[in-house]
Amino acid sequence: MAPSRATARQQPPLSDERERQKRAAARAAAELVKDGMRLGLGTGTTVAHLLPAIAERGLEGLRCAATSPATEAAARALGLAVEPLDELGELDLAIDGADEIAPSGWLIKGGGGAHTREKIVAASARAFVVIASAEKAVYELTPPVPLELIAFGVKRTLASVGEARLREAPPTPDGGLLADYLEQVGDPAELSAHLESLPGVIEHGLFAPQMVSLVLIADEHGVRRTRGAKRNGGGLD
Ligand code: 5RP
Repeated sequence: MAPSRATARQQPPLSDERERQKRAAARAAAELVKDGMRLGLGTGTTVAHLLPAIAERGLEGLRCAATSPATEAAARALGLAVEPLDELGELDLAIDGADEIAPSGWLIKGGGGAHTREKIVAASARAFVVIASAEKAVYELTPPVPLELIAFGVKRTLASVGEARLREAPPTPDGGLLADYLEQVGDPAELSAHLESLPGVIEHGLFAPQMVSLVLIADEHGVRRTRGAKRNGGGLD
């Protein structure tokens, strides 16, 4: 049955509610950022809500590392100081979105193709916070799993991966080619080890629970906080 006009007015379009949830999760994460922090900034539409929320706080001495040219440009346009990761060294905190979040704490990232830099930045941070709207929380991880591959011999690498296809996308800023692994994920630890064993695979989009300090998932009721397995400071312990 088609919804009545009254019902349609009461229920905002799904995409509006999703944006509201992304904004709510992003704003909750922005509150974790403190004066003087060295902060890693992820990539994507959820992080797009994070950047103004951080900029609005007018924090003193905040120094940021960006995971993509798009994030770098957006952060700079808001007046945030962006520097190369190697200038900043260890980060206090990194905040990023995710494509899927499993109850086990495993993530799939890289829908935006930035997972290699995102993993480096997350691993460089004492605390890593994931922000997402409700539909990103899943019972189990499902394909695609993003890949970044060396261009040399890419067809041979793809053949060794299993069922996978190259994305119709420009090379990454680091010259890698983006692809997606299309078979079932099964045990993420096993798949992660398989992908890491293959020459030509630069990085994959599976993030282990040990990388994650805190997950902030917004739904229609508010922002739910789930502690991750990473416990090494960053003011979140
Ligand atoms: C980019 C990513 C993003 O964090 C992920 O794709 C989620 O994006 P969005 O916030 O737009 O849903 O991993 O490489």
